[in-house]
Amino acid sequence: MRVLLIISGGIAAYKSLELIRGLRRHGAQVRPILTKGGAQFVTPLSVSALAQEKVYDDLFSLTDESEIGHIRLARETDLVVVAPATADILAKMANGIADDLATTALLATDRPILVAPAMNSRMWAQASTMRNMELLKANGVMTVGPAHGELAEGEIGIGRMAEPADILAAIEAALGGPLIGVRALVTSGPTHEPIDPVRYIANRSSGKQGHAIAGACARLGAAVTLVSGPSNEADPPGVETVHVETARDMLDACLQALPVDVAICAAAVSDWRPAEAETQKIKKGRRTNATSPNLELVENPDILATLGARENDRPRLVIGFAAETDDVVAYAAAKLASKGCDWILANDVSPHTGTFGGDDNKVHLISRTADAPRIEEWPEASKVEVAARLAERIAETLGSAA
Ligand code: CTP
Repeated sequence: MRVLLIISGGIAAYKSLELIRGLRRHGAQVRPILTKGGAQFVTPLSVSALAQEKVYDDLFSLTDESEIGHIRLARETDLVVVAPATADILAKMANGIADDLATTALLATDRPILVAPAMNSRMWAQASTMRNMELLKANGVMTVGPAHGELAEGEIGIGRMAEPADILAAIEAALGGPLIGVRALVTSGPTHEPIDPVRYIANRSSGKQGHAIAGACARLGAAVTLVSGPSNEADPPGVETVHVETARDMLDACLQALPVDVAICAAAVSDWRPAEAETQKIKKGRRTNATSPNLELVENPDILATLGARENDRPRLVIGFAAETDDVVAYAAAKLASKGCDWILANDVSPHTGTFGGDDNKVHLISRTADAPRIEEWPEASKVEVAARLAERIAETLGSAA
């Protein structure tokens, strides 16, 4: 993978050094162009040391022109990335202005372009910037960020450059993967079902497996919506993450995300919820006869079964997990039918396996066929490896069905 990285003049330029590192770790060749403004924030020496490449900065450099030339620089790449992209460079790009090496390369390239805008929130919200962004998007320029957060001037708002990990994920997705054009929905984590404002019913799910699956699908190019219950896992880069608490909120967020091509339900949804959540904290002494409260439970909606039974917008592939402590494969095969899904990943969650909350997983993939379900045993692996294998399997299946 070859990336032409244009670093323009914003404080976020320091994060581009981290981006170069990440790209190099992924085996990418990085050719950097540093604008005059960019060089105010990072030195050519640091950029070239990290990229292990010459830094290009001058349109009229006879040496550069005789060695490679700005047209070749613009074209001998798989992707052009502008990070940070200032309001100024975005305006020039939108209007076809070419007044230095960076903007000339941007005008001369026939390769896809990804921009990571970074600026003060007022500059971002300005009508002219919004207009320029619309123009760029209409011209097929891809964007990542900007994010909401602390800005250079100490203000909080939208304008922060996307984190290097998010830009990397966007680069991988932009360069194409077998899931390009595929929309995926993933559920992850536990749900919290309130008893009163301070207490809830939950389970030990960590969200590690579901988050890893969302990340793996995004890395192969899918547009992923992750609907996550409360979890300590970070939002995976390049994934749209919706945070929810209860099973009912999770279902609503999933239905909102439809239509999708594939739904993967990895969440450990609480099967029941208190019939009525108290609005005040339940106090020990205040109840009639000071008896312990009786918790009346009602069943939660089954998200997987709901998705599997959709009439007009059923995902082409509906995948569930079966967390079992005994007779793993038999119970899982029964769930395949009862939940109307296409595949079930069955895992043993008995306490001795350490699966719940742990880093590893041992699964059986059970898929529906015209005859008896097909059972495949996968070797024990990290949850990240299981996720990558699943994402590849999804790509093969959706690809061959297309
Ligand atoms: N699931 C769901 N909504 C629910 C319950 C479960 O979407 N209300 C999904 C899970 O995400 C998982 C699959 O259904 O993909 C199976 O979950 P599991 O807990 O193994 O099964 P249950 O349906 O809860 O059945 P049981 O507890 O009786 O084994």
